[in-house]
Formats: sequence, structure tokens, C-alpha cells
Amino acid sequence: CGIVGYVGKRNSQRILLDGLKKLEYRGYDSAGLAVFTESGLTVKKAQGRLAVLESKLEQEPLDGTIGIGHTRWATHGKPSDVNSHPHTDNSMKFSVVHNGIIENYMTLKEELTAKGHRFVSETDTEVISHLIADLYEGDIVKAVQQAVKKMTGAFALGVLTEHEPEKLVAVRLASPLIIGVGDGENFIGSDIPAILEYTRNVYILNDGEMAVLTQNGVDLRTIEGNFISRETFYVDWDLMTAEKAGFDHFMLKEIHEQPKAYRDTIGSRIDGSGERVVLGEVKLTPQQIWDIHNIHIVACGTAYHAGLVGKSVIEQLARIPVETDVASEYRYRAPIITPNTLVIVVSQSGETADTLAALREAKRCGARVIAITNVVGSSVSREADDVIVTWAGPEIAVASTKAYTSQLIAFYLLGLHLAQTLGTQDATYIRETIEALQKLPEQVEQILLHAEDIKQYAEQIAEHDDLFFIGRGSDYAVAQEGSLKLKEISYIHSEAYAAGELKHGTLALIEEGIPVIALATQEHLLEKTVSNIKEVKARGAQVFAIALEGNHEIAKSVDLVFEIPRTVALLAPALVVIPLQLLAYYASLARGNDVDKPRNLAKSVTVE
Ligand code: G6P
Repeated sequence: CGIVGYVGKRNSQRILLDGLKKLEYRGYDSAGLAVFTESGLTVKKAQGRLAVLESKLEQEPLDGTIGIGHTRWATHGKPSDVNSHPHTDNSMKFSVVHNGIIENYMTLKEELTAKGHRFVSETDTEVISHLIADLYEGDIVKAVQQAVKKMTGAFALGVLTEHEPEKLVAVRLASPLIIGVGDGENFIGSDIPAILEYTRNVYILNDGEMAVLTQNGVDLRTIEGNFISRETFYVDWDLMTAEKAGFDHFMLKEIHEQPKAYRDTIGSRIDGSGERVVLGEVKLTPQQIWDIHNIHIVACGTAYHAGLVGKSVIEQLARIPVETDVASEYRYRAPIITPNTLVIVVSQSGETADTLAALREAKRCGARVIAITNVVGSSVSREADDVIVTWAGPEIAVASTKAYTSQLIAFYLLGLHLAQTLGTQDATYIRETIEALQKLPEQVEQILLHAEDIKQYAEQIAEHDDLFFIGRGSDYAVAQEGSLKLKEISYIHSEAYAAGELKHGTLALIEEGIPVIALATQEHLLEKTVSNIKEVKARGAQVFAIALEGNHEIAKSVDLVFEIPRTVALLAPALVVIPLQLLAYYASLARGNDVDKPRNLAKSVTVE
């Protein structure tokens, strides 16, 4: 999760630990350092807070002027000393810190094992140190370049080898990495705060670039080996701004991290042909899938809203009946759970007490439990039978954004996996849905380019005290999340209604000038949604619609439209929620609220 590296004249241990401390805000579960000492490349690591590592280092300090450090947030393999970084090869002469995911690490691990490499951890990172060692023929830069060519995924690396102890090699492929340039000393960091205390002159590596650092200089090159000349960038941010990568708030940063979160969550879960989902972490056999009579999705808050979308995704794709419950209710309503019930619990943190209690109840009744969670090694992930990890990375803002959308991606993958097994959808449909799924990250990027339009609208609604969200089908599910997001951080009262249900009571609240946000991405329901829009317009509502690009019909019926790129109806929730997140963010900002830490709320609620 956090990388630092140092090459210079000073004692590196203090500098590396200071750098890691500056990255603590990102969350982590273990930490470690590798330093060249008199006895060679020496690694010290420990599960838990940095203080645990620090006290280990007090007993046995690492004395040396070149080193790398890492704080880990578990992805492959649970939090433990052995799974912590840096990782080494069997000769202990190569050491690697890594952020990101190596998608093909299992294949590489098998190849290396066949060649005699022995692995001690469950991580994908350990594979990198072995791979580099395997390819090394006297030139560390070449070995790293060759290793990178063999790896697929998104990663940032820091590499040391005892064979060339004056060098630190850094690589960036999709995961951020920066190089700090000092006087007789140079640094690497996964984030600017890690090095800000020591230098403000940095190179920001682009995708596919690497750097070779020595005490006296930094060479930048492409992974292919072509040298790059670039000016350093002077960072004039203070520490707080740097933590947010230049964004004003963590929430905005996390909203912008969604394309990456989508890519990482899809990751290697689609086979090379693009025709099938491969969800190895779900160990249910085809027969066990055949035997599922019903599914319960149980979660709290935003994760529950992801479950509402999950219900329609699974029902549509796999034709299995699904119920979605808030976890605090589930246990007490004596749910009908049989051994043929599959329970899916959804939790960003994996620690929510209500969700955990529901999981235990489900297990007590003999159900099989799948967890969808963002935190490897969390309580929920330990107690569930199968775990689908969302690769959103740590989420810091209380209002959840990238975790929610990654949960949607997890449901799409699971729905497709079940449909493939049950044969409920034909191969063409599955292929087209997978294609559309792979386009989502780019489409989110397109939406984010128009954030300014949402900002303007948000400033208008910030003046109101009440508003409504309406939608049909999965638009209704997303409307509920949009409404929650707005309430959580702007404190504007809002309600989400199934568009067709409004007229059965709540329509009484519609009066002149009240904002209504209409989601209209489900085009098979469009005519009906338009009728509902007309009902509120006729009573004076100001309607802001979010619709698929080129939907001229909607434009005629509302006051303002925000268009999102076209996708298949099933996947539209993963796009339509983005403007709603931005709306909540900018409305909160306009009202002068503490966006990242809304009143009365906590990120993780561990009491029932
Ligand atoms: C808290 C947070 C919500 C979150 C809910 C469930 O209430 O404030 O943002 O959706 O917990 O959290 P989980 O970690 O289980 O997804």
C-alpha cells in the first residue's frame, strides 16, 4: 500500500520509517524494511502497526544507507509477518517492495516452482523477487525489464540486489510511483507525503517507465530501455494536500480512483478470450451451484445498496430468486435459511458488527456464505466460506464511493459466473456483457471529465432542504444510494422512490420548485419513467435527469439532462452512480460541511 526507498549517505532506517509514517493515513496491516547492512541485504518485517516494527528495530537496528520500506494492506494472502514486504528470493540477494496486483502470479509461481524456487508466503509479490533472481545475469536493470515483460497487472516496484548494492530500481505500471531528487541522496515513494520532508523536487513516473537511482543521480527510462529526459516537478503542496494527491478531499480522490478500482476488480477474472468469467475464489462446485434454491444478500448502508443492484443482476443473469436484507434486521426476522440457501454478505470493511452477526446466523442455519469485501483478512473474510475481494484499495472518506462501485463489479462477475455454470444465458450474451464490463473504466473517466456540470447543479440544490430521487428497476436501486450519499455529507433531506410508486402517496410532497432527480438509464422502462417525470413536472418540480447519451426523448420532458455513455441496461448502475456521488460531494462542499468526516457517522461501525 505504501512504498518508500532511499539511496544516500544518511542512515536509511529513520528516513524509511518516517516515510512510512507519512503514509499511515492510507491504512495498512503490516510493515517492513530491507536495508544493505554489513551482513548484506537484511529484512525486518512485522504484522501490525508501525510501532511493532519500530520496536523490533530498536532491538536490532538496520545500519545502512540504502533501503526500501513498505506498509502492506493485504491483497493476496492474509496479514502476517511472512506475507509482509519486502520479499526476497531464496538466495536472499534480491528484495522487492510492491504495490498493486500481479494477475498472472499463479502461472509464474508454478513455472518458478518447477525450476526449484521455494516460496514461503502466499503473496504475488514474492513471485517478483524470485522472477527477477531467475532472470538475473549480471545486470539488475535488464533483469527487472525482463521480469516486467512477463508480468500482467498493475504495479509499482522498488527493487534492491546485493549484487549491485549501489542501485535502487523502481518501476511503474499503473500503480503510482514518484522519485524524489535530493542532494547526494534520492528517494522513491508511492505517494508524495512519503518524501516531502526531504525533498520537494520529484519526477512523476508515467505508466511503463522505470528509474535507476544511485546516491548521485537518477536515470529515467522506459521499460523497453530508452532513456527519458524530464524536468523535475516542484511540489508546493503542504502535507495535507499531498495526502490527497492534490485533491481537496479524500472523497473526491476516491471518486477519481474508480476507473482503476474497476480495472483492478475485474483484473484477471476474465479469461484471455474475453468470453468467460473466471472466479476461482468461489469454490462452489457446479453441482453446488445447481443446488442453490435461493440467495440472501445481507449488508448495511452503502453495501446494502450494492446488494439491491446485486439482486437484480443475479436474478436477471442466473434466474435464482434473491432477497436483499439490511443486516440489522436479518437475524431478528427468523429468515428462512436452508442448506440450499446461499448467503452473500457485502462489507467494505469486513468488520461491521451487524453484518458479521448476520453471517454467523446464516452459518448457524447451515447456509454457505460468500463475502464480498474490500479488506483481506477482515473478520467477515475469515468467517465466510468464499471471499470475493473488491480491489478498490483503502477507502478513507466516510462516504463510500469506490468500494460501492467495486461491489457492483463483484456482483456482475458473480452473476456471470453463476449464469455460465447454469447455462441461463447464451455465450453471445455473456460475451457482450463482458465486453461492456471491460469498457466501464473508460466510460467512468469520460463522466469524470464533466464533473463541472454536476458542480453547477449541486450548487443550486445546496439551497434546498428537501429533494427526491426517482427511478425504475436498477435505477431505483441506485437512486437509493444517491439519496443516502447526499444525506450523509450534505445533510439535505432526500428520499428515493420507485418512480411508479410516487403517485401512491409521496406525490403530495411535490410542490413548486422542488428538485427531483430522475434516473432514466433503463430504456425498456423509459416511457413509463417519462410519464412519472411528467407527473412531478405538472406539480411544479424542477427535474434533473441522468440518461444514456443520445436519449432525446428525456431531454424534451425535463429541465436539465446529464448524459452518461451508453452501456447495457444491466451495467448502467456502475455509471449512473458517478454523477450522484459528485452531486453529493459538491452539495456538501457548497454547504461548507466536513466532506470526509460527516457529523454523527463512522467509517466502520463495530457495535450492533
Ligand atoms: C457505516 C458507514 C457506511 C457503510 C456501512 C457499512 O455505517 O458509515 O458508509 O456503508 O457502515 O460498512 P461496511 O464496511 O460493512 O461496508
